[in-house]
Amino acid sequence: MMFFIQGEKMNTAVLISGRGSNLQAILEAEREKKLGEAKIQLIISNKEEAEGLKYSEIFNKKSVVIVRDSFVTKNEFEQKLIQTLRENEIDLIVLAGFMQILSTEFVNLYYGKIINIHPSLLPSFPGLKAQEQALDYGVKVSGCTVHFVNSEIDSGPIILQETIEITEKETEESLSEKILIKEHEALPRAISLISQNKVIISGRNVRIMI
Ligand code: GRF
Repeated sequence: MMFFIQGEKMNTAVLISGRGSNLQAILEAEREKKLGEAKIQLIISNKEEAEGLKYSEIFNKKSVVIVRDSFVTKNEFEQKLIQTLRENEIDLIVLAGFMQILSTEFVNLYYGKIINIHPSLLPSFPGLKAQEQALDYGVKVSGCTVHFVNSEIDSGPIILQETIEITEKETEESLSEKILIKEHEALPRAISLISQNKVIISGRNVRIMI
C-alpha cells in the first residue's frame, strides 16, 4: 500500500488517554528529525484529565479532547472523531495508550492508516494488563508490538516487535518500565518507516523495505 505522496508530509494524529510517554517520545523524535516524513499535526485525547495533554503546550501542538460520554451513542462519538481527523487532513492515526475500543466501521474506514502500540509480544497477552499476564504465565521474554489496527483487539498485522528478557526478580513495575523503553523506540521508528512508504501490508504479513 502506497499512501503517502513523495515529498509531502504525512499528517499524523496521536490519540491518547493518559500519561502520554509514547506521545512524548514521538514528539521528541520529530524534534530530532527522526520521524521521516511524518508531521505531528494533532493530539486527540478521550480524557479531559489526560496527563499527556501537557505535551501539546510543551511541543506547541494542537490538541483536541473528544469524550465518549459527551455523546449519546458511540457512533456519534466516532463521527466527531472522523470529522476532526478530516478537518485536520490526517493521513495516519497513532493509538498511543488510547483506551477506547473503536468500532469495526471506524477501523475499516482507516485500515492501513491506523496503528497501535501494545506492551507484549503479540499474539501473546492481548488486552489489558499485558505485563501482568506475561508474569503470571511465566514467560522468559516479553516486549512490545507495533501493529496495524483491525477489527479485533490487538490482532492486526505486526509492523515491529522489540524484545526484553524477564529476570527472576521481575515485578510488574520493572517489567513495564523495561518494555516502555522499547516502546519509545519502536513507535517513532514505525511512524518514520510508514511515512517513507517502506511498510507494505500483504494479508497478515507486513514487509519492511529497508
Ligand atoms: C503503553 O504501555 C502502551 O503500550 C499501552 O498503554 C501504555 C501507554 O503509556 N497501550 P503512555 O500513555 O504512552 O505513557
